[in-house]
Amino acid sequence: MGRFQIRALCFCVLLLVFKTCIADEQHKDRIYPGFQASQVDWGDHVGLFLLSNNSAFALGFYQALDVKLYLLVIIHLGTDKVVWTANRGKLISKSAKFVFDKNGSAYLRGSDSVAWSTNTTGQVASAMELQDSGNLVLLGDKGSILWQSFSHPTDTLLPGQEFLQGMQLKSFRNSNNVFHYLEIQSGDLVLYTGYEPPQIYWSLAVDSRMSNNNVIGNIHSLSLASNALNFYDANKSLLWQFVFSDNKDPNAFWSAALGADAVISFYDLQKGKSVTSEATKIPQNSCSTPEPCAPYFVCYFDNWCQCPSLLTSRFNCRPQALPTCNSSRSSTELLYVGEKLDYFALQFTKPSLLKSNLSSCKEACISNCSCLVLFFESSSGHCYMFDRVGSFERSGANSTGYISYMKILSDGGINAGQGKGNRSKHILLIMVILIATIVVIAGLVYMGFLYYRRKRLLDYSQEILEEDNGKEASSSSGLTNYNSDRLLSDIQLSGPR
Ligand SMILES: *[C@@H]1O[C@H](CO)[C@@H](O)[C@H](O)[C@H]1NC(C)=O
Ligand SMILES: *[C@@H]1O[C@H](CO)[C@@H](O)[C@H](O)[C@H]1NC(C)=O
Ligand SMILES: *[C@@H]1O[C@H](CO)[C@@H](O)[C@H](O)[C@H]1NC(C)=O
Ligand SMILES: *[C@@H]1O[C@H](CO)[C@@H](O)[C@H](O)[C@H]1NC(C)=O
Ligand SMILES: *[C@@H]1O[C@H](CO)[C@@H](O)[C@H](O)[C@H]1NC(C)=O
Ligand SMILES: *[C@@H]1O[C@H](CO)[C@@H](O)[C@H](O)[C@H]1NC(C)=O
Ligand SMILES: *[C@@H]1O[C@H](CO)[C@@H](O)[C@H](O)[C@H]1NC(C)=O
Ligand SMILES: *[C@@H]1O[C@H](CO)[C@@H](O)[C@H](O)[C@H]1NC(C)=O
Repeated sequence: MGRFQIRALCFCVLLLVFKTCIADEQHKDRIYPGFQASQVDWGDHVGLFLLSNNSAFALGFYQALDVKLYLLVIIHLGTDKVVWTANRGKLISKSAKFVFDKNGSAYLRGSDSVAWSTNTTGQVASAMELQDSGNLVLLGDKGSILWQSFSHPTDTLLPGQEFLQGMQLKSFRNSNNVFHYLEIQSGDLVLYTGYEPPQIYWSLAVDSRMSNNNVIGNIHSLSLASNALNFYDANKSLLWQFVFSDNKDPNAFWSAALGADAVISFYDLQKGKSVTSEATKIPQNSCSTPEPCAPYFVCYFDNWCQCPSLLTSRFNCRPQALPTCNSSRSSTELLYVGEKLDYFALQFTKPSLLKSNLSSCKEACISNCSCLVLFFESSSGHCYMFDRVGSFERSGANSTGYISYMKILSDGGINAGQGKGNRSKHILLIMVILIATIVVIAGLVYMGFLYYRRKRLLDYSQEILEEDNGKEASSSSGLTNYNSDRLLSDIQLSGPR
């Protein structure tokens, strides 16, 4: 009996050890329908539950800036760089589950909603594989591909990943809450900023490194191949190569990432944790990006930022409020920003007026309530209007540049249109406080005076008492009482005055 119990106990312990061993081991290469995981289950492996066969990449939960929230990511372990993210914008909690269900779909189930899904329900999925390339693939029957992360990029491209028309790289938001995007548009590759409406800041067709526009034909796809970005047409014939590094090492493992700084940078992931980006970037000059500086600052020498002097004296490039279409025309004015300026979107934007002069350009902006900033080129007469701008740029050496004005509220944007009414209210309030203070001080001075007089009277009566030698004590106390009563009534009188 006892022996049986011990044996059963041993078996239980063994089973327990075995089970935890199984639960602890990260899956390699593939997971199968029925698999579930949450960050809590895989805390011992910092949330990572699936490794690629060569252990270069891992799939798992990644802590967001808000430490209670998580993202499902593919991470490159050698560099700790996240190369793909499932649920950007819909973060999940510690207990949310990654589910690879038997109905052919993989998804992230938050507490009350689905944060992300491969949207393949109803198809026959046999396995999910994290390939050595960093591609997460949902495999169907006989090795067909139902879904793959390479077709749903976030902000990073990896070797072998084909970036096609209709796909998008989207950066993480910058400090002003602005996103940047890479897309193939009408046969050209463009970078644009997520203003409303979007403003293009780079296109392959205008990049001078394209060595005199030798790209003939429309771009249909691009991919990383060794130390270059290759551009292909619809027939997959190579149109052009953009070489971003001299390093031709066949072991290099390149990635291209669109950063929150709006720039595409190239990294050799083989270099490990100390990896830095290549000097060659897209675009090359950081002043030609939307917000290398805060809005209205002028960017020059690649990363110097300066607020134009008139804006410095008015509000140091940080207007508290800008005119809207609700502001009356008379409450707005145009403020001179400067000349020999440039703006990243000008070469991609159609002028609002083609043959204007400065005064007609200014008049057009004043009478268009959505115009906040104008650029005028005197040599061509082109007039551009924008409802939102990022940083300005110092114009190039060979360019005459643009003259720029910005629309502001006449009172400097301090009280968004209702300045006058508020100002007189302020003055009234200050007057009331001032009078009240004077009254209180006067009251205190008067009280001090009364106290001084009373003290003198007391001293005087003390002297009399001492002279009388205690004979008439009752009359002296009467005197004191009389005085303290006077004092009280004086305080009451001076109070409300
Ligand atoms: C995984 O790697 C091992 C060697 O590390 C290799 O033998 C095996 O074929 C690989 N499996 C797959 C599916 O690539
Ligand atoms: C699969 O789909 C069927 C019907 O659409 C549903 O009833 C079932 O719960 C699903 N199974 C899983 C594991 O999601
Ligand atoms: C799945 O479908 C939903 C709704 O149609 C969509 O919002 C989501 O982006 C899709 N997910 C993927 C990975 O395509
Ligand atoms: C692709 O190839 C076909 C036939 O070879 C040709 O007719 C077509 O013009 C080509 N398209 C492009 C975009 O080059
Ligand atoms: C303009 O005024 C309307 C109604 O007064 C208000 O609903 C709207 O939000 C205002 N728009 C802006 C940009 O202030
Ligand atoms: C500017 O152009 C307007 C009309 O386009 C014209 O009436 C005006 O005279 C011009 N002003 C100057 C200074 O040329
Ligand atoms: C008004 O200004 C906006 C930009 O602020 C511009 O896009 C639009 O074309 C202008 N409208 C007219 C009629 O010029
Ligand atoms: C300016 O123009 C000169 C000749 O016209 C040219 O040699 C020089 O490279 C140009 N500089 C820039 C910055 O474009």
